[in-house]
Amino acid sequence: MTEKINQVRVAFDIEVSKAVNVDELEQVRVKFLSRNGAIAQLFEDMKSVPVSEKPALGKLLNALKNDAQVAFDERKKTLSQSQEKPTSSIDLTLPGRPKPIGTKHPLTQTMDEIKKIFMTMGFSVATGPEIETDYYNFGALNFPPEHPARDMQDTFFIAKDVLLRTHTSPVQIRTMEQQKPPVREIMPGRVYRNEAVSARSLVSFHQIEGLCVDRGVTFSDLKGTLVAFAHQFYGKDVRFKFRPTFFPFTEPSADMYISCFLCKGKGCRMCKFVGWLEIMGSGMVHPHVLQNVGYDTEEYTGFAFGMGIERIACLRYGVDDLRLFYENDVRFLQQF
Ligand code: DAH
Repeated sequence: MTEKINQVRVAFDIEVSKAVNVDELEQVRVKFLSRNGAIAQLFEDMKSVPVSEKPALGKLLNALKNDAQVAFDERKKTLSQSQEKPTSSIDLTLPGRPKPIGTKHPLTQTMDEIKKIFMTMGFSVATGPEIETDYYNFGALNFPPEHPARDMQDTFFIAKDVLLRTHTSPVQIRTMEQQKPPVREIMPGRVYRNEAVSARSLVSFHQIEGLCVDRGVTFSDLKGTLVAFAHQFYGKDVRFKFRPTFFPFTEPSADMYISCFLCKGKGCRMCKFVGWLEIMGSGMVHPHVLQNVGYDTEEYTGFAFGMGIERIACLRYGVDDLRLFYENDVRFLQQF
């Protein structure tokens, strides 16, 4: 009898652990734990054992019955949990969760708008590498070696002749090397300068360069193009002026100013009480630059210009600290 009880215990343990769902487990229950099951049968058999063996066998059988019940309950709990279906927890009447949508960064917005204006005038967009050689950043742009003009732009050098570009002007050279005139390109991108970070200067900022080379391009084309740009970007009523300046890669060179759109030229904090805002550098492409890319200077002339995006965005939005554009504080960014 003892052996019989142990056999039933072993068989039950195997079958309970083999049951992989509630239905299979139910069959195990019927087989072992029901009124006509194997365990009930053992109790039936007890009736015919000698009285002297009854206490020990009864104890063994009761233990089997209890253990089997506990094992069954536990297995049932595990199986029914893993079969629970999640469908009931979806409430289709709940309002949706809004996904907040970001906006373009103010610098990107400014850049996009400038690009758009020049593209409607027939310019296309070109880009170049941020890591440049001395030749493209300086040499080809008519900065002679050891010339003090190189100090106008504090440079991060990577190796002797390799540097982080200090302006987008090297893209002029790369563009002209790759195509014959007519050239009409704008060249946006990031530039680097070795300067102390402050409200007015950053080690990295953005510029947009422009270049137009063809037969018979004159200073009045430069002026006409840039004035058309200023009128579209700053408004029809801004006044403008060009003031002579020096860049190695243009001759003659001119800085373009517009009348302060905040005080209309009367003088305010934005224009530092002079009534005028400098918005870009420009000039007629120096013949040396055209020669460096193999253009015939008897046949072709051109104009170029370059502006700082951060500066333009500051003027436009009345921001007085350049660093705000790079801190990514949403309270600042959300205003654009
Ligand atoms: N590269 C100049 C700078 O970073 C800006 C500039 C001035 C670009 C005149 C031009 C230009 O193309 O003609 O300060």
